[in-house]
Amino acid sequence: MNATKLFSTYQLGALALPNRLIMAPLTRGRAGKDRIPNELMAEHYAQRASAGMIIAEATNISETAAGWNESPGIHHNAQVKGWQKVTEAVHKKGGRIYLQLWHCGRASHPDFQPNGETPVSSSAIAAVGDAHTPGAKGYNDYPFLTVG
Ligand SMILES: Cc1cc2nc3c(=O)[nH]c(=O)nc-3n(C[C@H](O)[C@H](O)[C@H](O)COP(=O)(O)O)c2cc1C
Repeated sequence: MNATKLFSTYQLGALALPNRLIMAPLTRGRAGKDRIPNELMAEHYAQRASAGMIIAEATNISETAAGWNESPGIHHNAQVKGWQKVTEAVHKKGGRIYLQLWHCGRASHPDFQPNGETPVSSSAIAAVGDAHTPGAKGYNDYPFLTVG
């Protein structure tokens, strides 16, 4: 695609994009321990509002969904209100923003889970590699899971 086309408008369903630059979801880990979107995140996304469209970072859909330090959630009111700060800041600058939802499944670790429980997953097979957890050790093997 040549540069002229990249900066031309695009009709994406009902959405009129001013250009064809789509910001990919990028986990920043800036939501704090309570996982509530904040002013820093609103600033980050508002700075990028001139993109054709922003897909905001992967966001936890429940307390058990988390698998990354300080990733945001959207499963209780304070988090919804936090995201509203973000979307308002982006809309004020004329941008379009969508949210990526995630549940980390087996790519989580008991350190992220309520009461240190085993993560909920669709698979009982442990993921290959290490979970980057908030604990002192930093990196820990992904756990084997039991199918409930
Ligand atoms: C710091 C960082 C955070 C990322 N966070 C997410 C994320 O939250 N969701 C996702 O789908 N991909 C995430 N990605 C993957 C990027 O979106 C991906 O690298 C981008 O789409 C470019 O695609 P490519 O790596 O296939 O070229 C992340 C990548 C990086 C480097």
